[in-house]
Amino acid sequence: MSRIRRSERLGKLPPYLFVEIDRVKNELLESGADVVDLGIGDPDLPTFPEIVSALREACTDPATHRYPLQRGDPSFKRAIARWYEARYGVSLDPEREVLPLIGTKEGIGHLPLAVMNPGDVALIPDPAFPIYPAATWLAGGEVRLIELKEQEGFLPSFTGLTPRDLDRAKLLFLNYPNNPTGAVADIAFFKTAVDFAREHGILVLNDAAYSEVIYEGPRVSLLQIDGAKDVGIEFHSFSKTFNKTGSRLGFAIGNPEALEALATVKDNVDSCVFTAIQRAGEAALALPDERLEELVDTYRRRRDVLVDGLHKAGWNVPRPRATFYIWARVPTAERSQEFCARLLRDGHVVTTPGVGFGAAGDRYVRMALTTTEDRIAEAVARIKRML
Ligand SMILES: Cc1ncc(COP(=O)(O)O)c(C=O)c1O
Repeated sequence: MSRIRRSERLGKLPPYLFVEIDRVKNELLESGADVVDLGIGDPDLPTFPEIVSALREACTDPATHRYPLQRGDPSFKRAIARWYEARYGVSLDPEREVLPLIGTKEGIGHLPLAVMNPGDVALIPDPAFPIYPAATWLAGGEVRLIELKEQEGFLPSFTGLTPRDLDRAKLLFLNYPNNPTGAVADIAFFKTAVDFAREHGILVLNDAAYSEVIYEGPRVSLLQIDGAKDVGIEFHSFSKTFNKTGSRLGFAIGNPEALEALATVKDNVDSCVFTAIQRAGEAALALPDERLEELVDTYRRRRDVLVDGLHKAGWNVPRPRATFYIWARVPTAERSQEFCARLLRDGHVVTTPGVGFGAAGDRYVRMALTTTEDRIAEAVARIKRML
């Protein structure tokens, strides 16, 4: 028998909840069933062609196939600083306040190793992207959940934390625009978060992976708050903004000490992003704003097909102001997993049970707008029969 054992840290990670849904989905597909997939948040539309051309060209330059040192291509870091200032009005020092990442998830996964010691606490919303607790546990940290309540706009309140929580807390995870709830934060909330982090000596991180998928209202960023760079960093992703989940690319901006610590972890584990992908990233950031607006319009139309359709079917789901997710209360007495399993089994529609994002999500279901309007209309017709 093998003597290899999994680490105790891995043992802390919850079982992967989506496995069963994925198994049933694949069985259905193999049996020839017509499955509508509103499950995973992976854009169905192709990467913008300008980005693919830039990537193709960069790949033919032998220099791009060497180790990508310097913690990111200086020209790419300058392009990030220019793009961020143009969209958010905040200037960044490209060398100290910008760090390219192999996708946002990579940066989030490594950050707790950079800023937490075993036994330190991370404050994590519930529900949330499951990587936040996983990254904390992998670094030997502890998780203190803060429930996000619908009646509070799915924004965390810091008032319920005990002095002991606050003493041990080193990192606060925020994610606005939010997955899975679709909630947005305003400047007033970000100011509260920055003040709270400053008062308690906590690093606040906003995961802004959906920053550009906004239907109504202003685009806001944590770093727009005066003094936010003293205590905060923000993660941006090319995945959702440019339909680019495969050729992995993201960046962290903000507090130089936190970025330096994260870069030190990365120096030792990944040697940064493939240079050709960084050059393609420069091409992405040079795209005119209208191209991003067209993409958002596509999601807006899909959102309205789903929301209006479900309203007509008698399920009063909220209409999100951002992200490509609909987060709705389960309209029956079922728990989220039972409801989603039934939609899949009897309606061949894939959705994600809210409990996959934390216990507070158990009465909710998430539907992703990553398929066409026709397919969404088809999903609505099927769901209607099962309410
Ligand atoms: C909230 C959130 N953050 C980060 C990511 C991952 O982004 P990336 O592809 O840049 O790693 C996702 C992907 O679904 C997400 O939902």
